[in-house]
Amino acid sequence: MEEFAKIIIDGKEVILPVITGSEGEKAIDIRSLRLQTGYVTFDPGYGNTGACKSAITYMDGEKGILRYRGIPIEQLAESSTFAETAFLLITGKLPTQEELTRTSVYLNDFSPVHENMKAFYQNYPPKAHPMGILSAMVNAMRSFYPELMDLEEEMNKTYLRIISKIRTMAAMAYKISIGQKVVYPRPDLCYCANFLNMMFDSVVIPYHMDDDLVQALNVFWILHADHEQNCSTTAVRVVGSGKVNIYSAISAGISALWGPLHGGANQAVIQMLEKIARDGMTIDECISRAKDNDDEFRLMGFGHRVYKTYDPRAKIMKKMCDIVLSKVKIKDPLLEIASKLEEAALNDPYFIDKNLYPNVDFYSGIVLRAMGIPTNMFTVMFAIGRLPGWIAQWKEDMIDPEMKISRPRQIYTGSQLLDYTPIEQRKS
Ligand code: CMC
Repeated sequence: MEEFAKIIIDGKEVILPVITGSEGEKAIDIRSLRLQTGYVTFDPGYGNTGACKSAITYMDGEKGILRYRGIPIEQLAESSTFAETAFLLITGKLPTQEELTRTSVYLNDFSPVHENMKAFYQNYPPKAHPMGILSAMVNAMRSFYPELMDLEEEMNKTYLRIISKIRTMAAMAYKISIGQKVVYPRPDLCYCANFLNMMFDSVVIPYHMDDDLVQALNVFWILHADHEQNCSTTAVRVVGSGKVNIYSAISAGISALWGPLHGGANQAVIQMLEKIARDGMTIDECISRAKDNDDEFRLMGFGHRVYKTYDPRAKIMKKMCDIVLSKVKIKDPLLEIASKLEEAALNDPYFIDKNLYPNVDFYSGIVLRAMGIPTNMFTVMFAIGRLPGWIAQWKEDMIDPEMKISRPRQIYTGSQLLDYTPIEQRKS
């Protein structure tokens, strides 16, 4: 049965259709609102705005549910691989054995990076942040590997080309930044193992591959693979809506992810824990500073726009944290601080009342640190993981018949009509 919402504006009754999603979420379709009334809606940060219809990821922030194409994140983390999850997100279904093998072959074939791209890295300032480099390199890929928009097979190859090469480019950026010889991808290693090898193998100390660390990375990337209409995905959709090429849209997503309120939070969590340890801050002090609105100190890795309960990814990441730390036999003092902070915050009325729970970034930094990933590469790790989601969302937008160029309205609050004043008549 069709549903409608009724609103009264300036005494005039306006009837607007209601849209219902497959999990029962409701939205008021306001597309005709301005035409009918002259009014627009006001929703900074888009907390109440559905910007698209999407069949990719389902989240219920109140119940702590996350599913990719209907499959719970817990099942994917337990049984899937990152390559398989990428296929699921992009195509909408789990691959057959033949499709998965073909995907792996392409991921292998596309893994080397054009040798001329190395020159870009070598000329970056040595302290440049790897997220800035990655965003620029992905944009540059358009010139090295122009995609063919109209052939489906070519587009599918383009998606795998980006997924494969981003991992090589990230490891390459790290090796060049520390002045070591670049390690090339190997055909005998899977996606995650190949990345670890490219990061840590060296001519003098061969990298010893550990299956638990490979699995931890696999789970880390699966957990980050999509998260519906978050800041960076929205950036990809908004930039993509101008019909720019996919590389530029993804590059915009990488830039958006860099921010400490979004993907940069995993790096910010470690920096916060290090600061607490270095300055000898007590847990009580951290909690009271985080609660003080006049203090800019926030509990990084806590809170989420959508989750108002424990982030389901954080639960899985916490388990990975225990496995990885026992494996590498590291007693990380930062983990001890993190556990105490978590306990104190979860029992504090401020955090309880505001539904502030640990998010995925609270534990992912500790897992990455234990793997040997340098702190400034944490957000790059998130970006590699989020790539299949960005691609799936970009693709969905491109074939959506209702898709339009993103162009919000505003409520103008500036001066009313003013005459131009010649410079000699202006007062200081
Ligand atoms: N520490 C202390 N207070 C907080 C925190 C925090 N981490 N997060 C939110 N609050 C308070 C905030 O001060 C506000 O209080 P009041 O109502 O008195 O003004 C209230 O809770 C609501 O916060 P908000 O900033 O209005 O909520 P938001 O939905 O706009 O922001 C957030 C969500 C994730 C940006 C925010 O919780 C935050 O800054 N967290 C720390 C950064 C972080 O961990 N980010 C990673 C997010 S998960 C990765 C991803 O998916 O991108």
